[in-house]
Amino acid sequence: QELQMNLEQIEKGGYDHFMLKEIYEQPDAIRDTYRGRLLVKEGIIRMAGIDDNIEKFINADRIIIVACGTSWHAGLVAEYIFEDIARIPVEVEYASEFRYRNPVITKKDVVIAISQSGETADTLAAIKLAKANGAFVFGVCNVVGSTIARETHAGAYTHAGPEIGVASTKAFTTQITLLTLIALKLAKVKGEISNSDYRYHLQELELIPEKVAKALKSEDHIKMIAEKYKNAKNFLYLGRGYNFPVALEGALKLKEISYIHAEGYPAAEMKHGPIALIDENMPVVVIATKKGHYEKVVSNIEEIKARQGKIIGIVTEGDENVKSLADYVIEVPESLESLSPLLTTIPLQLLSYHIAVMLNRNVDQPRNLAKSVTVE
Ligand code: G6P
Repeated sequence: QELQMNLEQIEKGGYDHFMLKEIYEQPDAIRDTYRGRLLVKEGIIRMAGIDDNIEKFINADRIIIVACGTSWHAGLVAEYIFEDIARIPVEVEYASEFRYRNPVITKKDVVIAISQSGETADTLAAIKLAKANGAFVFGVCNVVGSTIARETHAGAYTHAGPEIGVASTKAFTTQITLLTLIALKLAKVKGEISNSDYRYHLQELELIPEKVAKALKSEDHIKMIAEKYKNAKNFLYLGRGYNFPVALEGALKLKEISYIHAEGYPAAEMKHGPIALIDENMPVVVIATKKGHYEKVVSNIEEIKARQGKIIGIVTEGDENVKSLADYVIEVPESLESLSPLLTTIPLQLLSYHIAVMLNRNVDQPRNLAKSVTVE
């Protein structure tokens, strides 16, 4: 028993929980994802799984992304970047819905299945259905040799290293990193992006790990915010564009480990419902970074404030505008809008982590949840 405890302490590498360790591993994990693939000086993205099947991707009518949970959120971020940069139509589906709704799938579809564990039953079933209908299926997995990695026609590993905490953290950011590499590569091959823009994206992507490390420095400040709002019964998370899926993921993280009800919403949809919930007891986490429809999100913040909602803004370093309106702000370094989810996600992970710890929750193994769901 004691030996077991000590082993676990060692595995946690000095952190109180696996989740916190994995949050802090993100700069390295993201670097490991792009190592050998992102060749900035040469202006090349090298990925065998894509290179070998480039025709399939280029000639695809559309890309269908299937996944569950946090991996589904990574798929939503990918939808924005694939359409925005590579101009390929994308649909993102919950694997569990896709497999049972008699979807239209053809030989000209490319299906990307995203799964940290590579063992999720619904995602695996969606893959089998897509294959049976002639689609080309590409896997984005973390666990090497997993069932989904073996069942797909081709794929790429995220190389995030083992993720033990049930709430997914580094798997999410590395999935986004990998899908960003694919989108940029396809954009380049299809001639949808200018050379200079492409180069700029590569440079900015390479800088993400150090910017994530910088974002992690806000932990003490985030802890203080967690202390203020840990007793709230509900949270609302708002974001727009590339950061709408981040709002969904932020709300999911809080639900999973703190058991506080939280909802993620596109900021502009607030007026069609959630605004009715806002009063002085409702903390609203708003992702309001400089480039992503900033002015519009700021006016959402004003609407929340007018109804006495409590505002926690996730802002670009140096932002004064949101600071003057919000109850608290958490800064993240500036980057390209398309890469901002890799940064804005970090404070949301830390916020949910600290609230859960303060509420004495079992952070690494929340009730009723499993790390990989191998049954329906
Ligand atoms: C479970 C886990 C989540 C994960 C989801 C999909 O619900 O608790 O963290 O996002 O499964 O898992 P996968 O391994 O397919 O990414």
